[in-house]
Amino acid sequence: MKSMTMEKSVAKQQKDGSGAPGPVVRASGLKKYFRRVDGTEAAAVNDVSFELQQGEFMVLLGPSGCGKTTLLRMVAGLEVPDEGTVEIDGRTVFSREEGISVPPERRQINMIFQSYALWPHMTVAQNVGYPLRSRSEKLSQSEIAERVANALDLVHIRELSGQYPDQMSGGQQQRVALARALVSGTNLVLFDEPLSNVDAHVREQLRSELVHMQRDLGFSAIYVTHDQQEAMGLAHRIAVMRTGEFAQVGSPREVYHEATSRYVANFVGVSNELPGRITSVNADDGVLDTAVGSVAGRVGSDLLAAGDAVTALFRPERASVSMLQGKQNSLPGVIEAALFLGPHTEYEVQCGDHRFRIWENDIAQLEVGAQVFVNISPDDVRLLAS
Ligand SMILES: Nc1ncnc2c1ncn2[C@@H]1O[C@H](COP(=O)(O)OP(=O)(O)OP(=O)(O)O)[C@@H](O)[C@H]1O
Ligand SMILES: [Mg+2]
Repeated sequence: MKSMTMEKSVAKQQKDGSGAPGPVVRASGLKKYFRRVDGTEAAAVNDVSFELQQGEFMVLLGPSGCGKTTLLRMVAGLEVPDEGTVEIDGRTVFSREEGISVPPERRQINMIFQSYALWPHMTVAQNVGYPLRSRSEKLSQSEIAERVANALDLVHIRELSGQYPDQMSGGQQQRVALARALVSGTNLVLFDEPLSNVDAHVREQLRSELVHMQRDLGFSAIYVTHDQQEAMGLAHRIAVMRTGEFAQVGSPREVYHEATSRYVANFVGVSNELPGRITSVNADDGVLDTAVGSVAGRVGSDLLAAGDAVTALFRPERASVSMLQGKQNSLPGVIEAALFLGPHTEYEVQCGDHRFRIWENDIAQLEVGAQVFVNISPDDVRLLAS
Protein backbone atom coordinates (compact mmCIF):
# COMPACT_ATOMS: atom_id res chain seq x y z
CA MET A 1 0.00 0.00 0.00
CA LYS A 2 3.01 2.22 0.11
CA SER A 3 2.67 2.83 -3.58
CA MET A 4 -0.78 4.31 -2.94
CA THR A 5 0.75 6.80 -0.55
CA MET A 6 3.14 7.93 -3.21
CA GLU A 7 0.46 8.25 -5.87
CA LYS A 8 -1.65 10.29 -3.49
CA SER A 9 1.22 12.57 -2.74
CA VAL A 10 1.69 13.10 -6.48
CA ALA A 11 -1.96 14.07 -6.85
CA LYS A 12 -1.82 16.32 -3.79
CA GLN A 13 1.19 18.20 -5.04
CA GLN A 14 -0.58 18.94 -8.30
CA LYS A 15 -3.60 20.29 -6.48
CA ASP A 16 -1.49 22.44 -4.21
CA GLY A 17 0.40 23.79 -7.20
CA SER A 18 -2.53 24.85 -9.29
CA GLY A 19 -5.62 25.22 -7.12
CA ALA A 20 -7.91 23.79 -9.79
CA PRO A 21 -6.77 20.80 -11.85
CA GLY A 22 -5.70 22.65 -14.98
CA PRO A 23 -3.29 21.44 -17.63
CA VAL A 24 0.08 20.12 -16.48
CA VAL A 25 1.86 22.02 -19.23
CA ARG A 26 0.69 25.05 -21.11
CA ALA A 27 3.05 26.27 -23.83
CA SER A 28 2.17 29.36 -25.83
CA GLY A 29 3.82 30.82 -28.89
CA LEU A 30 7.13 29.07 -28.37
CA LYS A 31 9.87 30.05 -30.81
CA LYS A 32 13.49 29.11 -30.99
CA TYR A 33 15.95 30.30 -33.61
CA PHE A 34 19.37 28.83 -34.20
CA ARG A 35 22.17 30.58 -36.03
CA ARG A 36 23.65 28.45 -38.79
CA VAL A 37 27.37 28.39 -39.50
CA ASP A 38 26.78 30.61 -42.56
CA GLY A 39 25.30 33.26 -40.25
CA THR A 40 21.65 32.83 -41.30
CA GLU A 41 19.01 32.19 -38.67
CA ALA A 42 16.54 29.33 -38.88
CA ALA A 43 13.53 28.63 -36.69
CA ALA A 44 13.90 25.20 -35.08
CA VAL A 45 10.53 25.73 -33.39
CA ASN A 46 8.17 28.27 -34.88
CA ASP A 47 5.24 29.53 -32.83
CA VAL A 48 4.09 26.31 -31.18
CA SER A 49 1.32 26.26 -28.58
CA PHE A 50 -0.18 23.27 -26.79
CA GLU A 51 -1.60 22.03 -23.51
CA LEU A 52 -0.86 18.73 -21.83
CA GLN A 53 -3.66 17.52 -19.57
CA GLN A 54 -3.28 15.57 -16.32
CA GLY A 55 -2.48 11.92 -17.03
CA GLU A 56 -2.16 12.54 -20.73
CA PHE A 57 0.47 10.86 -22.90
CA MET A 58 1.34 13.21 -25.74
CA VAL A 59 3.77 12.24 -28.48
CA LEU A 60 5.73 14.68 -30.63
CA LEU A 61 6.20 12.88 -33.94
CA GLY A 62 8.17 14.09 -36.93
CA PRO A 63 11.22 13.52 -39.11
CA SER A 64 14.77 14.22 -38.05
CA GLY A 65 15.47 17.91 -37.60
CA CYS A 66 11.84 19.06 -37.32
CA GLY A 67 12.34 20.51 -33.84
CA LYS A 68 11.04 17.80 -31.49
CA THR A 69 14.01 17.81 -29.12
CA THR A 70 14.25 21.60 -29.13
CA LEU A 71 10.58 21.89 -28.14
CA LEU A 72 10.95 19.30 -25.37
CA ARG A 73 14.08 21.01 -24.05
CA MET A 74 12.27 24.35 -23.89
CA VAL A 75 9.59 22.76 -21.70
CA ALA A 76 12.32 21.22 -19.53
CA GLY A 77 14.23 24.49 -19.26
CA LEU A 78 17.32 23.13 -20.98
CA GLU A 79 16.83 25.50 -23.93
CA VAL A 80 15.87 29.16 -23.60
CA PRO A 81 13.00 30.13 -25.96
CA ASP A 82 13.33 33.28 -28.06
CA GLU A 83 9.62 33.92 -27.62
CA GLY A 84 6.66 32.43 -25.80
CA THR A 85 5.70 31.23 -22.37
CA VAL A 86 5.75 27.90 -20.54
CA GLU A 87 3.56 27.11 -17.54
CA ILE A 88 3.88 23.94 -15.51
CA ASP A 89 1.08 23.07 -13.08
CA GLY A 90 -0.27 26.58 -13.43
CA ARG A 91 3.01 28.26 -12.57
CA THR A 92 4.84 30.34 -15.18
CA VAL A 93 8.32 28.86 -15.54
CA PHE A 94 9.31 30.84 -18.60
CA SER A 95 8.20 34.22 -19.89
CA ARG A 96 10.60 36.58 -21.59
CA GLU A 97 8.16 39.47 -21.19
CA GLU A 98 7.85 38.93 -17.45
CA GLY A 99 11.55 38.10 -17.10
CA ILE A 100 10.82 34.65 -15.68
CA SER A 101 13.15 31.73 -16.36
CA VAL A 102 12.99 28.96 -13.78
CA PRO A 103 15.99 26.59 -14.07
CA PRO A 104 15.35 22.95 -15.02
CA GLU A 105 15.99 21.52 -11.56
CA ARG A 106 13.25 23.72 -10.12
CA ARG A 107 10.61 22.91 -12.76
CA GLN A 108 9.26 19.72 -11.19
CA ILE A 109 9.88 17.66 -14.29
CA ASN A 110 11.77 14.50 -15.08
CA MET A 111 13.52 13.69 -18.28
CA ILE A 112 14.30 10.24 -19.66
CA PHE A 113 16.84 10.14 -22.46
CA GLN A 114 18.03 7.57 -24.96
CA SER A 115 19.35 4.46 -23.20
CA TYR A 116 18.01 5.80 -19.88
CA ALA A 117 21.32 7.30 -18.69
CA LEU A 118 21.56 5.09 -15.61
CA TRP A 119 24.79 5.31 -13.64
CA PRO A 120 26.61 2.02 -14.30
CA HIS A 121 28.53 2.11 -10.99
CA MET A 122 25.40 2.56 -8.89
CA THR A 123 22.88 -0.09 -7.86
CA VAL A 124 19.23 0.25 -8.78
CA ALA A 125 18.44 1.74 -5.38
CA GLN A 126 21.32 4.21 -5.63
CA ASN A 127 20.27 5.23 -9.14
CA VAL A 128 16.68 5.78 -8.07
CA GLY A 129 17.72 7.69 -4.95
CA TYR A 130 20.13 9.92 -6.85
CA PRO A 131 17.71 12.82 -7.51
CA LEU A 132 16.80 12.85 -3.81
CA ARG A 133 20.39 12.86 -2.61
CA SER A 134 21.46 15.58 -5.03
CA ARG A 135 18.82 18.14 -4.26
CA SER A 136 19.33 21.06 -1.98
CA GLU A 137 16.59 20.27 0.53
CA LYS A 138 18.21 17.53 2.64
CA LEU A 139 16.31 14.35 3.33
CA SER A 140 17.35 11.84 5.99
CA GLN A 141 18.79 8.48 4.95
CA SER A 142 15.68 6.66 6.13
CA GLU A 143 13.40 9.06 4.25
CA ILE A 144 15.38 8.50 1.07
CA ALA A 145 15.32 4.73 1.57
CA GLU A 146 11.56 4.78 2.05
CA ARG A 147 10.90 6.90 -1.02
CA VAL A 148 13.20 4.72 -3.12
CA ALA A 149 11.41 1.59 -1.92
CA ASN A 150 8.05 3.17 -2.77
CA ALA A 151 9.23 4.12 -6.24
CA LEU A 152 10.58 0.62 -6.85
CA ASP A 153 7.25 -0.81 -5.70
CA LEU A 154 5.41 1.42 -8.13
CA VAL A 155 7.28 -0.13 -11.05
CA HIS A 156 7.38 -3.61 -9.46
CA ILE A 157 11.14 -4.08 -9.22
CA ARG A 158 11.81 -3.83 -5.49
CA GLU A 159 13.58 -7.21 -5.57
CA LEU A 160 16.17 -5.78 -7.98
CA SER A 161 17.25 -2.91 -5.74
CA GLY A 162 20.79 -4.28 -5.26
CA GLN A 163 21.43 -5.06 -8.95
CA TYR A 164 23.61 -2.97 -11.25
CA PRO A 165 22.20 -1.70 -14.58
CA ASP A 166 24.29 -4.10 -16.67
CA GLN A 167 22.79 -7.01 -14.74
CA MET A 168 19.27 -6.23 -15.95
CA SER A 169 17.15 -6.52 -19.08
CA GLY A 170 16.20 -3.47 -21.16
CA GLY A 171 12.70 -3.54 -19.73
CA GLN A 172 14.01 -3.57 -16.18
CA GLN A 173 16.34 -0.68 -16.94
CA GLN A 174 13.38 1.23 -18.31
CA ARG A 175 11.57 0.64 -15.04
CA VAL A 176 14.55 1.92 -13.08
CA ALA A 177 14.63 5.07 -15.20
CA LEU A 178 10.92 5.55 -14.63
CA ALA A 179 11.25 4.97 -10.89
CA ARG A 180 14.04 7.55 -10.80
CA ALA A 181 11.84 9.97 -12.72
CA LEU A 182 8.89 9.47 -10.37
CA VAL A 183 10.78 9.33 -7.07
CA SER A 184 10.62 13.04 -6.34
CA GLY A 185 6.83 12.98 -6.39
CA THR A 186 6.47 15.08 -9.54
CA ASN A 187 4.33 13.58 -12.19
CA LEU A 188 5.51 15.09 -15.48
CA VAL A 189 7.94 12.91 -17.43
CA LEU A 190 9.58 14.02 -20.67
CA PHE A 191 11.03 11.33 -22.93
CA ASP A 192 13.43 11.96 -25.81
CA GLU A 193 13.52 8.86 -28.03
CA PRO A 194 14.28 6.48 -25.14
CA LEU A 195 13.79 3.39 -27.30
CA SER A 196 15.76 4.38 -30.37
CA ASN A 197 18.83 2.32 -29.45
CA VAL A 198 17.16 -1.05 -29.04
CA ASP A 199 16.23 -3.56 -31.72
CA ALA A 200 12.72 -3.73 -33.12
CA HIS A 201 11.52 -6.74 -31.13
CA VAL A 202 12.68 -5.43 -27.76
CA ARG A 203 11.38 -1.99 -28.66
CA GLU A 204 7.87 -3.40 -29.07
CA GLN A 205 8.04 -5.07 -25.67
CA LEU A 206 9.32 -1.94 -23.95
CA ARG A 207 6.69 0.14 -25.67
CA SER A 208 3.84 -2.02 -24.48
CA GLU A 209 5.32 -2.11 -20.98
CA LEU A 210 5.57 1.67 -20.95
CA VAL A 211 1.94 2.00 -22.02
CA HIS A 212 0.79 -0.28 -19.19
CA MET A 213 2.85 1.60 -16.63
CA GLN A 214 1.71 5.01 -17.79
CA ARG A 215 -1.96 4.00 -17.85
CA ASP A 216 -1.58 2.38 -14.38
CA LEU A 217 0.39 5.12 -12.68
CA GLY A 218 -1.26 8.00 -14.51
CA PHE A 219 1.76 10.27 -14.81
CA SER A 220 1.68 12.90 -17.56
CA ALA A 221 4.13 12.50 -20.41
CA ILE A 222 5.54 14.20 -23.46
CA TYR A 223 7.36 11.68 -25.61
CA VAL A 224 9.50 12.47 -28.65
CA THR A 225 9.93 9.99 -31.49
CA HIS A 226 10.30 9.84 -35.26
CA ASP A 227 8.74 6.35 -35.32
CA GLN A 228 5.07 6.50 -36.29
CA GLN A 229 4.26 3.04 -34.94
CA GLU A 230 5.74 3.92 -31.60
CA ALA A 231 3.71 7.12 -31.59
CA MET A 232 0.48 5.26 -32.44
CA GLY A 233 1.06 2.65 -29.75
CA LEU A 234 1.87 5.07 -26.95
CA ALA A 235 -0.09 8.24 -27.45
CA HIS A 236 -3.39 9.55 -26.27
CA ARG A 237 -2.63 12.44 -28.59
CA ILE A 238 -0.03 12.88 -31.32
CA ALA A 239 1.38 16.20 -32.52
CA VAL A 240 2.79 15.61 -35.99
CA MET A 241 5.58 18.13 -36.53
CA ARG A 242 6.91 19.61 -39.73
CA THR A 243 9.83 22.06 -39.84
CA GLY A 244 9.26 23.57 -36.42
CA GLU A 245 5.47 23.62 -36.51
CA PHE A 246 2.56 21.38 -35.59
CA ALA A 247 1.12 20.05 -38.84
CA GLN A 248 -1.75 18.30 -37.03
CA VAL A 249 -2.66 17.34 -33.49
CA GLY A 250 -5.10 14.53 -32.75
CA SER A 251 -5.66 11.04 -31.44
CA PRO A 252 -3.77 8.26 -33.25
CA ARG A 253 -7.00 7.38 -35.07
CA GLU A 254 -7.59 10.96 -36.13
CA VAL A 255 -4.15 11.55 -37.57
CA TYR A 256 -4.24 8.15 -39.30
CA HIS A 257 -7.77 8.19 -40.71
CA GLU A 258 -8.47 11.90 -40.87
CA ALA A 259 -5.21 13.46 -41.93
CA THR A 260 -5.67 17.05 -43.03
CA SER A 261 -2.62 17.11 -45.31
CA ARG A 262 -0.69 14.76 -47.56
CA TYR A 263 2.32 15.32 -45.34
CA VAL A 264 0.56 13.91 -42.28
CA ALA A 265 -1.15 11.09 -44.21
CA ASN A 266 2.19 9.95 -45.56
CA PHE A 267 4.11 10.39 -42.34
CA VAL A 268 1.81 8.32 -40.16
CA GLY A 269 1.44 5.37 -42.51
CA VAL A 270 1.45 4.07 -46.06
CA SER A 271 -0.77 6.03 -48.46
CA ASN A 272 -1.76 5.52 -52.05
CA GLU A 273 -2.07 8.79 -53.93
CA LEU A 274 -3.97 9.65 -57.05
CA PRO A 275 -4.01 13.23 -58.36
CA GLY A 276 -6.98 14.74 -60.14
CA ARG A 277 -9.27 17.69 -60.50
CA ILE A 278 -12.48 18.31 -58.59
CA THR A 279 -15.64 18.06 -60.68
CA SER A 280 -18.10 18.52 -57.83
CA VAL A 281 -17.75 19.15 -54.12
CA ASN A 282 -19.70 20.10 -51.00
CA ALA A 283 -18.57 20.49 -47.40
CA ASP A 284 -18.11 16.74 -46.83
CA ASP A 285 -17.84 14.92 -50.16
CA GLY A 286 -16.30 15.47 -53.53
CA VAL A 287 -15.72 13.81 -56.87
CA LEU A 288 -12.42 13.88 -58.73
CA ASP A 289 -11.67 13.39 -62.36
CA THR A 290 -8.45 11.38 -62.56
CA ALA A 291 -6.41 9.74 -65.31
CA VAL A 292 -7.91 6.38 -64.37
CA GLY A 293 -11.52 7.39 -63.92
CA SER A 294 -13.80 9.24 -61.60
CA VAL A 295 -13.12 8.90 -57.85
CA ALA A 296 -15.47 9.90 -55.02
CA GLY A 297 -14.18 10.61 -51.53
CA ARG A 298 -14.47 12.59 -48.34
CA VAL A 299 -13.15 16.11 -48.19
CA GLY A 300 -10.07 16.30 -45.93
CA SER A 301 -8.74 19.81 -46.51
CA ASP A 302 -10.49 23.14 -46.10
CA LEU A 303 -11.74 25.21 -49.01
CA LEU A 304 -11.83 22.80 -51.91
CA ALA A 305 -13.66 24.07 -54.99
CA ALA A 306 -14.61 22.65 -58.38
CA GLY A 307 -11.62 22.81 -60.73
CA ASP A 308 -9.04 22.53 -57.92
CA ALA A 309 -6.13 20.16 -58.37
CA VAL A 310 -6.30 17.77 -55.42
CA THR A 311 -5.03 14.33 -54.45
CA ALA A 312 -7.11 11.34 -53.48
CA LEU A 313 -5.45 9.24 -50.76
CA PHE A 314 -6.34 5.79 -49.53
CA ARG A 315 -4.73 3.27 -47.21
CA PRO A 316 -3.52 -0.10 -48.54
CA GLU A 317 -5.68 -2.02 -46.06
CA ARG A 318 -8.86 -0.12 -46.92
CA ALA A 319 -8.88 -1.01 -50.63
CA SER A 320 -9.41 -4.39 -52.23
CA VAL A 321 -8.28 -6.10 -55.39
CA SER A 322 -10.93 -8.00 -57.33
CA MET A 323 -11.64 -9.49 -60.72
CA LEU A 324 -15.06 -7.87 -60.43
CA GLN A 325 -15.77 -4.26 -61.22
CA GLY A 326 -17.50 -2.31 -58.44
CA LYS A 327 -20.24 0.28 -58.96
CA GLN A 328 -18.15 3.22 -57.79
CA ASN A 329 -14.43 3.92 -57.29
CA SER A 330 -13.39 0.88 -59.30
CA LEU A 331 -10.06 1.45 -60.96
CA PRO A 332 -8.95 -0.97 -63.69
CA GLY A 333 -5.37 -2.20 -63.47
CA VAL A 334 -2.92 -5.07 -63.72
CA ILE A 335 -1.26 -6.95 -60.86
CA GLU A 336 2.47 -6.34 -61.12
CA ALA A 337 3.55 -8.12 -57.97
CA ALA A 338 2.06 -10.19 -55.16
CA LEU A 339 4.10 -10.39 -51.97
CA PHE A 340 3.01 -12.70 -49.19
CA LEU A 341 3.90 -10.88 -45.95
CA GLY A 342 2.30 -13.12 -43.33
CA PRO A 343 -0.65 -11.16 -41.98
CA HIS A 344 -1.55 -9.98 -45.46
CA THR A 345 -0.59 -10.19 -49.11
CA GLU A 346 0.62 -6.97 -50.67
CA TYR A 347 -0.48 -6.52 -54.26
CA GLU A 348 1.15 -3.94 -56.44
CA VAL A 349 -1.41 -2.89 -58.97
CA GLN A 350 -0.59 -0.68 -61.92
CA CYS A 351 -3.51 1.55 -62.88
CA GLY A 352 -2.52 3.71 -65.83
CA ASP A 353 0.58 5.65 -64.72
CA HIS A 354 -0.07 4.96 -61.05
CA ARG A 355 1.02 2.04 -58.95
CA PHE A 356 -0.92 1.24 -55.78
CA ARG A 357 -0.13 -0.97 -52.84
CA ILE A 358 -3.12 -2.97 -51.61
CA TRP A 359 -3.11 -5.27 -48.60
CA GLU A 360 -5.49 -8.23 -48.76
CA ASN A 361 -5.90 -10.84 -46.08
CA ASP A 362 -8.11 -12.95 -48.27
CA ILE A 363 -6.60 -16.41 -48.84
CA ALA A 364 -7.56 -16.43 -52.52
CA GLN A 365 -4.37 -15.72 -54.48
CA LEU A 366 -4.54 -13.49 -57.51
CA GLU A 367 -1.92 -14.05 -60.18
CA VAL A 368 0.66 -11.55 -61.31
CA GLY A 369 -0.45 -10.23 -64.70
CA ALA A 370 -4.17 -10.57 -63.91
CA GLN A 371 -6.49 -7.79 -65.08
CA VAL A 372 -8.21 -6.56 -61.92
CA PHE A 373 -10.07 -3.69 -60.31
CA VAL A 374 -8.96 -1.73 -57.28
CA ASN A 375 -12.17 -1.09 -55.35
CA ILE A 376 -12.38 1.51 -52.59
CA SER A 377 -15.36 2.79 -50.67
CA PRO A 378 -15.72 6.60 -50.94
CA ASP A 379 -15.64 6.63 -47.11
CA ASP A 380 -12.03 5.42 -47.28
CA VAL A 381 -10.83 8.01 -49.78
CA ARG A 382 -9.60 11.39 -48.53
CA LEU A 383 -9.43 14.34 -50.84
CA LEU A 384 -6.57 16.60 -49.83
CA ALA A 385 -5.11 19.76 -51.31
CA SER A 386 -2.21 18.83 -53.61
N1 LIG B 1 22.50 23.96 -30.76
C1 LIG B 1 22.09 24.11 -32.02
N2 LIG B 1 22.71 24.99 -32.85
C2 LIG B 1 22.27 25.15 -34.12
N3 LIG B 1 21.25 24.51 -34.65
C3 LIG B 1 20.59 23.62 -33.89
C4 LIG B 1 20.98 23.36 -32.53
N4 LIG B 1 20.15 22.44 -32.01
C5 LIG B 1 19.30 22.11 -33.01
N5 LIG B 1 19.55 22.82 -34.12
C6 LIG B 1 18.78 22.75 -35.37
O1 LIG B 1 17.41 22.91 -35.07
C7 LIG B 1 16.62 22.02 -35.84
C8 LIG B 1 15.80 21.16 -34.92
O2 LIG B 1 16.65 20.29 -34.19
P1 LIG B 1 16.10 19.22 -33.16
O3 LIG B 1 17.26 18.59 -32.49
O4 LIG B 1 15.09 19.87 -32.30
O5 LIG B 1 15.38 18.19 -34.14
P2 LIG B 1 14.72 16.77 -33.83
O6 LIG B 1 13.33 16.84 -34.40
O7 LIG B 1 14.84 16.43 -32.40
O8 LIG B 1 15.57 15.79 -34.73
P3 LIG B 1 16.08 14.27 -34.44
O9 LIG B 1 14.89 13.38 -34.74
O10 LIG B 1 17.15 14.09 -35.46
O11 LIG B 1 16.55 14.19 -33.04
C9 LIG B 1 17.57 21.26 -36.73
O12 LIG B 1 17.59 21.87 -37.98
C10 LIG B 1 18.90 21.41 -36.04
O13 LIG B 1 19.95 21.38 -36.97
MG1 LIG C 1 15.86 14.92 -31.37
